[in-house]
Amino acid sequence: MNPIIDTIIVAIWLMLPAYIPNPSAAFFGGKTPIDRGIYWGKSRLLGDGKTYEGLVKGISCGFLVGIVQHLFLSEYLNLPSFGIFPFFLVTLFCLSAGAMLGDLLGSLIKRRVGLKRGAPFPLMDQLDFVAGAWLLLFLFAREWFTESFSLDIILAVIIITPLLHLLTNYIGFKIGKKQVPW
Ligand code: CTP
Ligand code: MG
Repeated sequence: MNPIIDTIIVAIWLMLPAYIPNPSAAFFGGKTPIDRGIYWGKSRLLGDGKTYEGLVKGISCGFLVGIVQHLFLSEYLNLPSFGIFPFFLVTLFCLSAGAMLGDLLGSLIKRRVGLKRGAPFPLMDQLDFVAGAWLLLFLFAREWFTESFSLDIILAVIIITPLLHLLTNYIGFKIGKKQVPW
């Protein structure tokens, strides 16, 4: 197959456990703000868009999708695994929890620069969860990370993630699960 298409497929495959948490959190929603309504200066610490329920459901969904990919699909589809047992569990946790952590840090920064919940912050909104996932992988699953993410995969992720993010958020907006289409 076309090597560019191949690279894009592997990039999406490897990042899927990090792509799932955000839309899952938006889909299932939540009530309890992680910052418990606390302010830092004039703005909320994180805002009402970051809830405990969303955090737990988002991480769980990303992790479970990764389990299914790893155990049932990778061999069949001839796509990379997430590491050997039991290490793939660490990898999947880094991807899913890292994505939610990056999303939280993104909101923390958005609130600090005075942006309200849902206000767009181009590139931050689209890539904060990638940065979070890669940070945890670099810290706790470095060997798998450096072996799996070659430079072309990294570039593919940076280019396609914003496009996928805009597309899923637009769908989320259309089905009434997102308040804004970004
Ligand atoms: N969500 C949640 N808990 C999280 C993350 C997301 O409940 N930890 C839900 C919220 O309902 C949120 C939606 O998913 O509104 C979409 O997430 P996101 O776009 O990250 O939040 P925004 O509302 O746009 O807020 P922010 O400006 O902080 O990004
Ligand atoms: Mg947002």
